[in-house]
Amino acid sequence: MRNLFATKPLDMLLAEVKGENRLKRVLGPLQLTSIGIGAIIGTGIFVLTGVAAHDKTGPALMLSFVVAGMACVFAALCYAEFASMVPIAGSAYTYAYATLGELMAWIIGWDLILEYTVSAAAVAHGWSHYFQDMVGIVGIHVPRLLSNAPFDFNPALGKLVLTGTWFDLPAVVVTAIITTILVVGIQESARFNTAMVLIKLAVVALVIGLGVFYVNPANWHPFAPFGYTGVSFFGKTLFGQTGPGGQPLGMLAGSAMIFFAYIGFDAVSTNAEEAKNPQKDVPTGIIASLIICTILYIAVSGILTGMVPYYKLNIDAPVSDAFGQVGLVWAQGVISIGAMAGITSVLLVMLLSQPRIFFAMARDGLMPEKFFAAVHERFRTPYKATILTGFVVACMSALIPLRILAELVNIGTLLAFVIVCSAVLVMRKTNPNAERPFRCPWVPFTPIAGIAICLLLMFSLPAENWWRLIGWLVIGFAIYFGYGRHHSVLARRRRAQAEGRDGALAAETVTP
Ligand code: ALA
Repeated sequence: MRNLFATKPLDMLLAEVKGENRLKRVLGPLQLTSIGIGAIIGTGIFVLTGVAAHDKTGPALMLSFVVAGMACVFAALCYAEFASMVPIAGSAYTYAYATLGELMAWIIGWDLILEYTVSAAAVAHGWSHYFQDMVGIVGIHVPRLLSNAPFDFNPALGKLVLTGTWFDLPAVVVTAIITTILVVGIQESARFNTAMVLIKLAVVALVIGLGVFYVNPANWHPFAPFGYTGVSFFGKTLFGQTGPGGQPLGMLAGSAMIFFAYIGFDAVSTNAEEAKNPQKDVPTGIIASLIICTILYIAVSGILTGMVPYYKLNIDAPVSDAFGQVGLVWAQGVISIGAMAGITSVLLVMLLSQPRIFFAMARDGLMPEKFFAAVHERFRTPYKATILTGFVVACMSALIPLRILAELVNIGTLLAFVIVCSAVLVMRKTNPNAERPFRCPWVPFTPIAGIAICLLLMFSLPAENWWRLIGWLVIGFAIYFGYGRHHSVLARRRRAQAEGRDGALAAETVTP
């Protein structure tokens, strides 16, 4: 029992990154902020805003972005404190290991796999659809059999139906290309990412700067046609209206959905080990990217619902379509290209971050080290884990529909945020004097508020998400109790200490 809650001492964490098996420190504050923005602005704002406003919120979508943004700001402040204390790969997983113990660390690491791998697959799907739209304009069509996942959820029928296709080829191709870039090097990836981020920021600026002239304030009435709540518990609506499939409707329900749009700021902290000056730059990267995106999201959702009545918003490509609806066809094309660039960079950061979580978990012995912690001799990247991640994401995006993938992601990430906020509270008690180059302000208010809002959003998600999360965690427990618990570095260290051969083991395990 004691072993399950054994924590990894801070000095041991810091000693590890001095070893041979480490990643290159090349990222500055601008690149880190750009990794954050790269991960944040994508499918959420370009695709999900349409479904959310159309089906769940109406113009109150603006408030949904405020609520989800608040949850993220509180969680980000907690992330930033940890990122400054423990500036090594692994993000929330590493923080949990230092504070809440091995079992919680495993749970969060397992949960982050859900966040990054599944969102990468969701995002690759989104990319494919925009791509098919784009090439469709010039008359090129991907063969129908290779254009989509073989099944999908039909909301009107309330069940899964066959689509008559085999798999989504463009999603597989884009995942393969990005995986290759990532194997070749972090610096190359960061450069590619910065270019994509500049394009998408320019497009978002265009949406705001041009769209504002086409806003008709009458479209903002009624402001919240589905109400301001939408909270359910395992399928039973507690507050607000219920939709056709028993799903909660309203501003909060929309918030739980578009929370997806904010996922990714924590990716900055997964790359801390490659930051030149992690203690200072990682908190800056996290908070700067989140604040920039929150402001942009509120503006874009206001403009979108002001340009087009919410019930006329397109569900697949709402942002570009809104410009088509007001007659700006050239802007529609430009925005589609920007959306593709935006989604590409999200995919890049997700595929960049996942192997680094594996890397951190493997270095602790919770996953097979030889495979997941292998660093390429020349490129200095975790190449085996990167290729495996790319392969799994390609398979998922080829075969599982976007709707199901996107739904799975939010609940896992919200749980990770709850754990990180709790970990700040615990760490302030257990390690009050540890050096904190960045201190989360207003503790305990900030972490408690973060926990409360994230839980509220978790309860605003449809019930299936809870079941999927529980299923995922059960598989995770099986792996931990079957493998990680016996192979973990801490467990091996304890066994060695019990047998009186500490020195030999420290050399054998602490620096893999
Ligand atoms: N926040 C990312 C997106 O919206 C996952 O695509």
